[in-house]
Amino acid sequence: MTINIILLGPPGAGKGTQARKLVEERGMVQLSTGDMLRAAKDSGTEMGNKVAEVMARGELVTDEIVIGLIREKLAEGGKGFIFDGFPRTLGQADALGELLNETGQVLDAVIEMRVDDEALVRRITGRFTCGNCGEVYHDETKPTAKPGVCDVCGSTDLKRRADDNEESLRTRLLEYYKKTSPLIGYYYAKGNLTPVNGLAEIDEVSRQIAEALG
Ligand code: AP5
Repeated sequence: MTINIILLGPPGAGKGTQARKLVEERGMVQLSTGDMLRAAKDSGTEMGNKVAEVMARGELVTDEIVIGLIREKLAEGGKGFIFDGFPRTLGQADALGELLNETGQVLDAVIEMRVDDEALVRRITGRFTCGNCGEVYHDETKPTAKPGVCDVCGSTDLKRRADDNEESLRTRLLEYYKKTSPLIGYYYAKGNLTPVNGLAEIDEVSRQIAEALG
């Protein structure tokens, strides 16, 4: 069965962590606009440089750019999509609805990951990722088994993100509450919102998501 879902939640809610588990367990395709934009940033193009500045400040990139990225990926098809970090504005949500219609697909569920702000600060400031395979770690809650070495691929290229500092996080949270949190009401009204407790342990959050997806 092919299903398309959105993981909705503030920075650090655990969207990327859960998306990677869904990819592994269900063979779904993760569409993370954050990862796509970081790849554009690394391309060194003029657009990439502009995107890098906006992201480092913690502000949102324009709807036009991110909708364009998603449009390309949807056209490639796949065994169910996980929208991770998209949509982030009402304009992006409307555009996603239209894109899914055009490609004859439906949105099956929107998982709202609820986490309080204090936990978000701890999660973001302790996060690091593998630059080779993308596995996500945390200094306290998910350290690597061997210091400095990725558990999954053995790489020693472990990185921290440029926007994972307290100042950028404040802006990211403001952007979330101003522009993204209205999507909770938007999808509730459409009848496909399911909240999960994002404060629970990683495996328990996965269990709640699996229950919501049936
Ligand atoms: P993006 O990359 O999407 O970042 P984000 O939304 O800020 O989300 P994060 O990746 O920070 O957090 P997450 O929820 O994935 O948490 P994670 O699983 O890593 O966006 C970055 C920037 O790109 C934006 O600011 C914007 O500039 C731009 N952008 C992206 N999409 C855009 C769009 N659609 N429109 C416009 N601009 C866009 O977990 C965090 C940490 O917590 C990890 O260390 C993890 O190990 C740990 N953790 C996870 N779950 C648990 C748990 N249950 N218990 C304990 N620890 C946990």
